[in-house]
Amino acid sequence: MARRRRIYEGKAKVLFEGPEPGTLVQYFKDDATAFNNQKRGVITGKGVLNNRISEYLMLRLAEIGIPTHFVRRLNMREQLVREVEIIPIEVVVRNTVAGSLAKRFGIEEGQALPRSIIEYYYKNDQLGDPMVSEEHITAFGWATPQDLDDILNLSLRINDFLMGLFLGVGMKLVDFKLEFGRLWENEEMRIVLADEISPDNCRIWDAKTNEKMDKDRFRRDLGGVAEAYQEVARRLGILPEGGVGGDMAGPKTIQ
Ligand code: TMP
Ligand code: ASP
Repeated sequence: MARRRRIYEGKAKVLFEGPEPGTLVQYFKDDATAFNNQKRGVITGKGVLNNRISEYLMLRLAEIGIPTHFVRRLNMREQLVREVEIIPIEVVVRNTVAGSLAKRFGIEEGQALPRSIIEYYYKNDQLGDPMVSEEHITAFGWATPQDLDDILNLSLRINDFLMGLFLGVGMKLVDFKLEFGRLWENEEMRIVLADEISPDNCRIWDAKTNEKMDKDRFRRDLGGVAEAYQEVARRLGILPEGGVGGDMAGPKTIQ
């Protein structure tokens, strides 16, 4: 296989130069990290499942008019995406109290929020992704007030749609993290959804039992991590052909 230029390697994904200018290949690894890289592991088959799940969700979001970086899935572990300038902000949308929100305010997990809460974190591993306000974001120039307006509106629409989609197949969307990028087309700049949407960056609970079906199973050593990701894919109706055996472990990252 031809050597490809590696543009960026993150904790769960690698970005390679794409086949045409303005494109990238997003490769999904099985590696998992938590608590800013302090906990590390491998979830066999995760990359294959997240590639599928993220493809499916990005396509469904595109159908309702959400602009995304997704172009098409290339194979089991790779998708073609538009190259965007990532805005260094992680947008967290919460519908139910869990995780750091529960911890920060000493509230028990599981309480439904009266309305969705949006939080912003500055993407910076060295600083441990500190929480920031809109004031910090605009003052430091990470995004303009207009960018933030678009990001907030898109995030709320994405949340409304995904909550319904998951609930329709017996799952509760507790919270999730989004990233956005700037895409230029003929002098015009658009904010588009980037990164991935998968059980790595969502909290998804079974709607009836509240059983966790996401990366919290890894973070909290609950076991059954790969099985939970598979179950999410199964309920969405997108379990890869041939099930979970065969080449789920996939090739190692090339190069
Ligand atoms: P939190 O409760 O730990 O703040 O996480 C909120 C949501 O954001 C949860 O669905 C997991 C996701 N998340 C990421 O995707 N990346 C991160 O680095 C963190 C801290 C959370
Ligand atoms: N992915 C982040 C990390 O590796 C945090 C998390 O998802 O828990 O630190």
